[in-house]
Amino acid sequence: MGKMAAAVGSVATLAAEPGEDAFRKLFRFYRQSRPGTADLGGVIDFSVSHAARGTGPGAPKVVKSQLNLSSVSDHDALRAGLQPVSKWQAYGLQGYPGYQWHWVKQCLKLYSQKPNVCNLDKHMTKEETQDLWEQSKEFLRCKEVNKRRPRSLLEKLRWVTLGYHYNWDSKRYSADHYTPFPSDLAFLSEQVAAACGFQGFRAEAGILNYYRLDSTLGIHVDRSELDHSRPLLSFSFGQSAIFLLGGLKRDEAPTPMFMHSGDIMVMSGFSRLLNHAVPRVLPSAEGDSLPGCLGAPLPADLPRDSVVEPCSLEDWQVCASYLKTARVNMTVRQVLAVGQDFPLEPTEENKRDITAEGSCHLDDDNSQVKRARLSPDY
Ligand code: OGA
Ligand code: MN
Repeated sequence: MGKMAAAVGSVATLAAEPGEDAFRKLFRFYRQSRPGTADLGGVIDFSVSHAARGTGPGAPKVVKSQLNLSSVSDHDALRAGLQPVSKWQAYGLQGYPGYQWHWVKQCLKLYSQKPNVCNLDKHMTKEETQDLWEQSKEFLRCKEVNKRRPRSLLEKLRWVTLGYHYNWDSKRYSADHYTPFPSDLAFLSEQVAAACGFQGFRAEAGILNYYRLDSTLGIHVDRSELDHSRPLLSFSFGQSAIFLLGGLKRDEAPTPMFMHSGDIMVMSGFSRLLNHAVPRVLPSAEGDSLPGCLGAPLPADLPRDSVVEPCSLEDWQVCASYLKTARVNMTVRQVLAVGQDFPLEPTEENKRDITAEGSCHLDDDNSQVKRARLSPDY
């Protein structure tokens, strides 16, 4: 058997929980997996060359797919901080590493600000959450020196919503809760979607996930968007994670794959409504180092109309310190078809799936948040 065999063998040693589906079983397996052991042998690694990967009968096949080379000019790719489409790898589109810092900085410093919505809003006033970055940056810079200090607000940030703000209770987007979607992220998304054959993609809603090493994202399907013919884009930065891609039903065992910093996942067509989850964020090999592609010096030759902009060393130090033990994931969605409006009464199938973990999105593996599994206001 191929690499899958190792994982499947180990899974079998897990005590089965009554009524447990195949997805939940693998979720539990990877949640407790040990980096550097055979536990991770079955996880597809898009960063490893095709030839080097296991291809036994049990190993899922990774197929290269074609990109639309002509729909994104090299110039527009560069403006979005991406390499020419001809250099992308179609099974796991790799962003231009030199510009990952821009999106990390936006997630931590800019997108976390009002009028965007975040998990802290429920317990804090507008004034208290006004500038998470300013309040946290000194803490983060001296992270090493004082490990036992209380967590800064940025470290308590779990999610931010953009555009049509996803309502975690009703599982809906609505016309009356909208703020402008960041134009740089919209531009990046349009280029990536176009390269994948989705011209005219509109970035209308975003969910940004901020993971600590003990965070997980429960098994779910993203079905709240009203137009499922449009892709869902997902950009990952910082520490690597194990991503589980399942089937339409929960009882189909998922395929595990690594999501590394700079990876872009496009869920479209059949895979748009598949079950998926993140059971594990992996600590770096040295404990608190950054992936190599994030340490690169800033490239200086940005086009004049670039949407990515230089990041100061001072800002980068804060981002780097944060990312040593964290993962940031941006998901971008088109909610409505062109010309479509929100229905007055949303239908059942438009609601986002709720998982057995409860209705909260990101989950931390500590007692404080175990309680939060039962309630969405963490
Ligand atoms: C999501 C999601 C996956 C990830 O936000 O809906 O599935 O890789 N994120 O964090
Ligand atoms: Mn999702």
